[in-house]
Amino acid sequence: MIRNKIDGIRDACLKELGKAVDLQDINAIKIKYLGKNGELTAVLKSIKEVAPSERPAIGKCINEVHEIVDSKISLKESVIKEELEKKRLYDELLDVTLSTQYDGIGALNPLTQIKKDITDIFVHLGFDIKDGPEIEFEYFNFTALNIPKDHPSRNSSDTFYISDKLLLRTQTSAVQVHVMKTHEPPIRIVCPGKVYRPDDDATHSPMFQQIEGLVIDRSVTLRDLKSLLEEFARSFFSSTTKVRFRPSHFPFTEPSVEVDLSCNKCGGSGCNLCKHTGWIELLGAGVVHPRVLKECGLDSNVYKGIAFGIGVERAAMIKYGIHDMRLLFDNDIRILKQFK
Ligand code: PHE
Repeated sequence: MIRNKIDGIRDACLKELGKAVDLQDINAIKIKYLGKNGELTAVLKSIKEVAPSERPAIGKCINEVHEIVDSKISLKESVIKEELEKKRLYDELLDVTLSTQYDGIGALNPLTQIKKDITDIFVHLGFDIKDGPEIEFEYFNFTALNIPKDHPSRNSSDTFYISDKLLLRTQTSAVQVHVMKTHEPPIRIVCPGKVYRPDDDATHSPMFQQIEGLVIDRSVTLRDLKSLLEEFARSFFSSTTKVRFRPSHFPFTEPSVEVDLSCNKCGGSGCNLCKHTGWIELLGAGVVHPRVLKECGLDSNVYKGIAFGIGVERAAMIKYGIHDMRLLFDNDIRILKQFK
């Protein structure tokens, strides 16, 4: 009697499985036959009504049917899942050969392009590219660069502090220190990266980019710095660009210079871009101060260094004759399109 019932449940279940088309059907079958109040579970519970001598055989029979039903349900479930996946893949099929209407193909942001152009020039001259942290220790950004404790650039009006010791680097010169401390000369590196200062107007932004350059060798001089920057200026602006050094002061270089280029708009005769002087200030540079070399573990009697820091936004403004730096950050597509 009970055997017939078990067989009946099996047949009914397999029949329903045959008709199941989706995962809801499968779920319903699972509940109906194998669930807590399912039909097969119910027979298992009713085994106590069977004569004790027959119980083992009936129990075995129920288990066998349970196994069959369970594995057939799993099988059907995986078949349905596979079909659903196939359908999904088919539905999501993308015809890459289908022609579409482009509104225009994008291009690199002019600042990214300029940064790449500048680093490429130095890479061609044998420089390596180095990276450094934007969140920097006060030590690397100031102290190791011979910047005294009472120097105005350390004020919170000029530097974003995170804590007493941590800050957002104000100059890529901090990378020099990392490199000198970990590399044996000769060193020839450029370090492009973001720097931060609390300024915000047409020619200053709280975040801007610099490219630091550093050469350390046994006999580099200010003369080498000049010819290096002349080479750079001619490649970046034009073959007739002239370079002029003006005395300046940076705590980490001695002597220090401010580097001007002959105006690329008027060729040096004077215009509104160069404020009628014929020259445009582009970067700061100098001969690495012996104290910086010493702090970084280099013997200043043996090694000399030259360093420079180029403002990427400033280079872009000069190259493209832009007066307001914010245009480069605004993402106005009409402006950006002009640089494609
Ligand atoms: N770090 C200086 C600045 O941010 C630029 C500089 C770099 C000057 C290297 C000299 C040498 O203004």
